[in-house]
Amino acid sequence: MNIAEEIERLKRERNAVIMAHNYQLPEVQDVADILGDSLELARKATGIDAEVIVFAGVDFMAETAKILNPDRTVLIPARNATCAMANMLRPEHIVEMKRRYPGAPVVLYVNTTAACKALADITVTSANAVKVVESLDSETVIFGPDRNLASYVARRTGKKVIPVPEDGHCYVHRKFTVEDVERARREYPNAKIMVHPECEPEVQERADVIVSTGGMIRHAPEHDEWVVFTEREMVYRLRRMYPNIKFHAAREDAVCVGMKAITLRQVYESLRDMKYEVTVPEDIAKRARRAIERMLEVS
Ligand code: 13P
Ligand code: SF4
Repeated sequence: MNIAEEIERLKRERNAVIMAHNYQLPEVQDVADILGDSLELARKATGIDAEVIVFAGVDFMAETAKILNPDRTVLIPARNATCAMANMLRPEHIVEMKRRYPGAPVVLYVNTTAACKALADITVTSANAVKVVESLDSETVIFGPDRNLASYVARRTGKKVIPVPEDGHCYVHRKFTVEDVERARREYPNAKIMVHPECEPEVQERADVIVSTGGMIRHAPEHDEWVVFTEREMVYRLRRMYPNIKFHAAREDAVCVGMKAITLRQVYESLRDMKYEVTVPEDIAKRARRAIERMLEVS
């Protein structure tokens, strides 16, 4: 059996589309109908025509697709495809911060559970966080869960950004060090360095550009060689898009276990057996949808 061909056949039979994040395994990216960063995926999820969405990404992304498409069936091919950073923030952390900073809007990264999003005034992704925070009529914002994205937003907007929880971070992006930047500069003297805003501030400071994964795709044509500081599979995505540009992964061990929980076989089995269905209780979905839609309006 050729799995990729079987997936194509099942897609037609089920009237399904496959959405995939830029960190998915190469063979999963190859069968996707829609590939993107979290903002592009959230945006494209609003107007899906198909009856079934197979979401090859981590759980919060699949939940966002379900929240924006309550009448569609949304499937995630692996139950353990989860985001360690999203799991660091719990609703009670937000309630406590709201008590400590009354009146400050709650701005949440889309890398959060639906229950947390339901407590947000607005969501952001790494592609639009600065723009969204600038649009808010408040000099202080509560921001979670990524501490590094919070400090990036504070530097860019000049606003007071209160992180919640105190040390929310992505273990994949925390791996990158100043030594990695220095080594990249030595090994690839003609290359520019692109880093994700989830990287540590001292790594961000030494980069040429700080961008979301979608931003990496948009910036790539500006130069002919790059070292990429984000999850390893991003380099596959960039090389496929720009075969004439050189891309080097800054670290081969920058691997998101949650993203890699999804294999091509599981995408096939997901379509074959219609599993695992993503559900979000309607009261939570309704409030979370407001925060996501507000973000889509601003960006
Ligand atoms: P992007 O929105 O840049 O794709 O980031 C999502 C993510 O999980 C980064 O680790
Ligand atoms: Fe979450 Fe980090 Fe994986 Fe992105 S790379 S999905 S932030 S654990």
